[in-house]
Amino acid sequence: MATDSLTVTDNRTGETFELPITNGTVKAIDFRQMKANESDFGLMAYDPAFTNTVSCSSSVTHLDGDAGVLQYRGYPIEQLAEKSTFTEVSYLLIYGKLPTQSELDSWNSQLLELMAGEEVLKTITSDFPENAHPMGIVQATVAALGTLYPDSKDFDDDAASLEYAKRLIAQIAVLGSWAYRHGAGQPLLDAPKNASYPGAFLQMMFGEEPDPRIERALDILLILHADHEQNCSTSTVRVVGSSDADVHASVSSGIGALYGPLHGGANEAVLQMLARIETKDNVPAFIERVKDRDELLMGFGHRVYKNFDPRATIIKEAVDEVFQITGVNPLLEVAQELEKIALEDEFFVGRKLYPNVDFYSGLLYEALGIPTEMFTVMFAIGRTPGWVAQWWEMKHDKEQKIARPRQVYTGDMDLDYVDIGNR
Ligand code: CMC
Repeated sequence: MATDSLTVTDNRTGETFELPITNGTVKAIDFRQMKANESDFGLMAYDPAFTNTVSCSSSVTHLDGDAGVLQYRGYPIEQLAEKSTFTEVSYLLIYGKLPTQSELDSWNSQLLELMAGEEVLKTITSDFPENAHPMGIVQATVAALGTLYPDSKDFDDDAASLEYAKRLIAQIAVLGSWAYRHGAGQPLLDAPKNASYPGAFLQMMFGEEPDPRIERALDILLILHADHEQNCSTSTVRVVGSSDADVHASVSSGIGALYGPLHGGANEAVLQMLARIETKDNVPAFIERVKDRDELLMGFGHRVYKNFDPRATIIKEAVDEVFQITGVNPLLEVAQELEKIALEDEFFVGRKLYPNVDFYSGLLYEALGIPTEMFTVMFAIGRTPGWVAQWWEMKHDKEQKIARPRQVYTGDMDLDYVDIGNR
């Protein structure tokens, strides 16, 4: 008998099956052969929220939650945050290798050129109510971008798909800045002709050249957010893309998934929570409310990291550096006190709840002058290369088909329709 296999006895029938184990997984479809009787459909795996289901093979991002390891295409996040740039990381994610100097120069200038503003998207952005959440605006304008280029719908045209994927990485910074400027009641600006990616974004946001140290801090934040394997929004991008939907439709769906407070929206929720707690003295009472299940400690906990989130460690260092330039945000003290108490408390220790990327990223964004409602948009800008790389990989994966989970039906059956007057 092969050793890399699983032997299963179906106690309903007494039949035994041997299932191969590959890469630490068994194929869910292999269970289908196990039937209680002839007419039985076959056994299925039940896994709401996909907590133990592998949906794809991927060579984009390696994550070891127990060891606190995050690597893009094999390169540790710590080295990339220290030595690389967001645009270089974008190239790495998409092409699977670090660029040469000339490839990087060309990539950077292409991205800057592709930031040219689309007038119709300016109009669409301006038509939203001024109090519209910028995530909703960006989700809509990314989808609208696809309508401007009908040939982007040709899923089988790889050359065109790659061009539109690149354009999207460039345009998301423009659309994000416009969503902010619209809400602030300020004219929407075009990208500068000569700037780095984060520099161009900051200039479109605030209308002036940024302090290079602030620009670098933003670059690091974007690197940290660039990919995170099969999380909620990336899985959404893949699921939507699996229907042969183009990159705009797929990424705009990913933006919708990222919007929620349990995912990308957590950075905004952290700042709101810190503002509500207000002072360090109120922290113990807040922690008690969390333990009583009246509150969630936003920015804590992770589905995969059960030791520490390496991104949180890097962000914490960046926060210290940025605060030396901008002055310390008084809410930092509240955050530090929350972290200190939570890391000693059995409720959090026992459940392996540690600060995640969002615990400190909001404070950092705020120090960069970015308003709270834009935090999740920042996350979306950073994550776009990752979404695109994963969409691209999914598109070329021969094992993938249109995503279509199964269900256990628990509702009524075979009812007779009742006329409205008789109900
Ligand atoms: N505050 C208080 N209790 C928590 C928290 C929290 N932040 N997170 C998890 N728990 C508890 C949870 O109630 C459960 O307790 P019990 O076993 O007694 O029922 C236990 O810890 C295990 O949690 P879980 O809900 O099974 O964990 P999950 O993997 O389903 O959820 C999570 C992961 C990130 C959604 C969750 O930890 C959470 O809601 N955190 C707050 C929101 C947040 O910071 N999200 C950002 C995630 S990182 C960035 C990103 O990926 O977007």
